[in-house]
Amino acid sequence: MIKVFTTREDFTNYKFGLAHDSIGIIPTMGNLHLGHLSLLKQSLADNTVSVITIFVNPKQFGPNEDFDKYPRTLDEDLAKISNLALHSDLSSNDKKEIIVFAPRNNDEIYPTGFNTIISVKQLTQKLEGKFRPDHFDGVTTVVYRLFKIIGAKNAYFGQKDFQQCIVIKKMIFDLELDIKLNILPIVRNTEGLALSSRNQFLTTEERMAALHLSKTLKQIEMLIKNKEDYKPIIANELNNNKWDYLEVLNAENLEEPNQQTSKLVVIGAFKLGVIRLLDNILVQTV
Ligand code: PAJ
Repeated sequence: MIKVFTTREDFTNYKFGLAHDSIGIIPTMGNLHLGHLSLLKQSLADNTVSVITIFVNPKQFGPNEDFDKYPRTLDEDLAKISNLALHSDLSSNDKKEIIVFAPRNNDEIYPTGFNTIISVKQLTQKLEGKFRPDHFDGVTTVVYRLFKIIGAKNAYFGQKDFQQCIVIKKMIFDLELDIKLNILPIVRNTEGLALSSRNQFLTTEERMAALHLSKTLKQIEMLIKNKEDYKPIIANELNNNKWDYLEVLNAENLEEPNQQTSKLVVIGAFKLGVIRLLDNILVQTV
């Protein structure tokens, strides 16, 4: 069964009948692809009720970023969710339910006079934060609002936006939020490019050039696994001004790794025209 709510009031009225323990939340900005749907699938497996939220959050876009151009495709998104529900055979299991919460305007999330920002410090100053000031404040503020409105026990995020996951993990920890963060693997196309709503804006040549991102991360992963020095490759790559950053960090806290660090993340942002592509690989060293 799928239900769509476009106002907080309608959703909240409905929610009174739901148990907190049974709800999973999948926050998205819509224009859904198989990456988003993989999160929904996992939530369906884990929870009785899965709430996928679709909201293009103005607070996380900078003044010169693509907020106006961000693809808004609610009808197609609903069709994809229905299709997934059909194939997950939800109809034969009446207990499982999908709710789409797609606020019809910004007031539903930020009522008039809303004047609070949730801001995780330090972690948000590096990597993406250097190139998108205030971006993560917008993310944590909207995610906090969505957690509060939906009241879920489980939250599903993609490793694709790895720094976002670590920032949200820190917010949950610091504010002692009663929600479990589930981070799911990156879904890629057959060539290895991580799926992203922004890929559709790439030209054919840019799409080919984009593969350099995942290939370079893989190359560094191999060097780490073979206990070889990866630093010369990074230095060499960074001579190419297409990279905004390319780093190997401690995957737990995004700090510089040391000899004892057992879980690393190879993480990069690559520019193609006006599009920035993000990707990362987790590497276990022991
Ligand atoms: P959006 O870019 O729509 O992504 C929604 C969720 O889908 C995020 O957790 C993201 O990491 C995940 N995702 C995107 N591409 C993926 C892929 N190829 N494989 C697996 N998961 C993928 O991230 C946001 O929206 C926003 O910042 C949001 C958290 C909704 C706050 O506005």
